[in-house]
Amino acid sequence: MSNYLERAQEMREQLVATRRDLHEHPELYFQEIRTAKKIAEHLDSLGIEYTPGVAKTGIVAHLGEGAPVIALRADMDALPIVEANDVPYKSQNEGVMHACGHDAHVTCLMGAATMLAQDFAAGRLKGTVRFLFQPAEENEDDEGKSGGRRMVEEGALEGVDAVIGLHVISTLPANQVFVREGAFMAAVDSFKAQVIGRGGHGAYPKEALDPIWLSAQVINGIHGVISRRKSPMDPGLITVGVIHAGKAGNVIPVQVEMEGTIRSFSQETRMLLHRELENAFRIAQVFGGDYRLKIEYGYPVTVNDPEMARYVQRMAGDLIGAENVQEAAMETGAEDFSFMAQAAPGAFFYLGAKKDEVSRLHHAPDFDIDESVLPTGAALMAEAARKFLEENATENA
Ligand code: NI
Repeated sequence: MSNYLERAQEMREQLVATRRDLHEHPELYFQEIRTAKKIAEHLDSLGIEYTPGVAKTGIVAHLGEGAPVIALRADMDALPIVEANDVPYKSQNEGVMHACGHDAHVTCLMGAATMLAQDFAAGRLKGTVRFLFQPAEENEDDEGKSGGRRMVEEGALEGVDAVIGLHVISTLPANQVFVREGAFMAAVDSFKAQVIGRGGHGAYPKEALDPIWLSAQVINGIHGVISRRKSPMDPGLITVGVIHAGKAGNVIPVQVEMEGTIRSFSQETRMLLHRELENAFRIAQVFGGDYRLKIEYGYPVTVNDPEMARYVQRMAGDLIGAENVQEAAMETGAEDFSFMAQAAPGAFFYLGAKKDEVSRLHHAPDFDIDESVLPTGAALMAEAARKFLEENATENA
């Protein structure tokens, strides 16, 4: 047995200090320079080899050699939010805040690296643990690529037998694990569109072609898609979040601008929603108008490999007690761990981190976590790697 939980508890002060330091110095997507430096210093102190500058500001490190290879992932970026918490570790970087707990993810993975390095040095582990310190989970660069996608494209997942990611959740009970098999978090795509009519006098609509009237039919069509064109057993949604047209009450404008988001949990539904969205816009053509529609692909569905999800459930149950491991609900939020889970059998799990009775939502200015989850998270990541290497040891290793 590994007693990672006890060993992580002994590091608690250090873990809290690390998390608070990162929390005080949050950095936005693809700008995680200081964060990467802190990680590199820690890896240096442990004698762990690493490659900096992966996916621009990320770090890939590894312990051990040969098969099997297990990858552990932590995202590093913060959000453009002004922190409202009056705490000693309040963000010093005005307008930027770790409001999704990625500071905790980095801390947990650094803690796991400490313990795993000790065990490799002592000859207790065989195989390879790869550490993926991933930038830019929250946003994409000018080429439309997030950190997770870039890491996969740059080969960080090559040769990996399994990949595991953790997310603290401020609204779930602290120190409990939540995981599910299969589709977990939604695919998210966005669209921009114009519904095009002909401008004219508000008093003579017949002479013009009112794009606002056309848009009303289109929007009804879009929402009808969800209830009439898709199985109710198959979740998915389309939200029209932006609509702009017109400048005067007595003028029929030329066109209407729209933007929206599309969420789905399977590739089939994703394609169906794209197709039917296009059909809804075609209603404008029926009445003699026109449209332009551009759908941009975002993060794919986060799908947990069933075997890996069961593995995490069992591993966590053995470590923190089966009564503290529950099935997670599906979420319409998205995660770019999805790219990694496409590249290797993956399991993404939640670690409950509710701090107090205040509702501290993710991406909110008063977001915060119960720091007692830091040792738990470090132990879970270390044990996820250790047990995997032990159970999948090759014959001649
Ligand atoms: Ni997050």
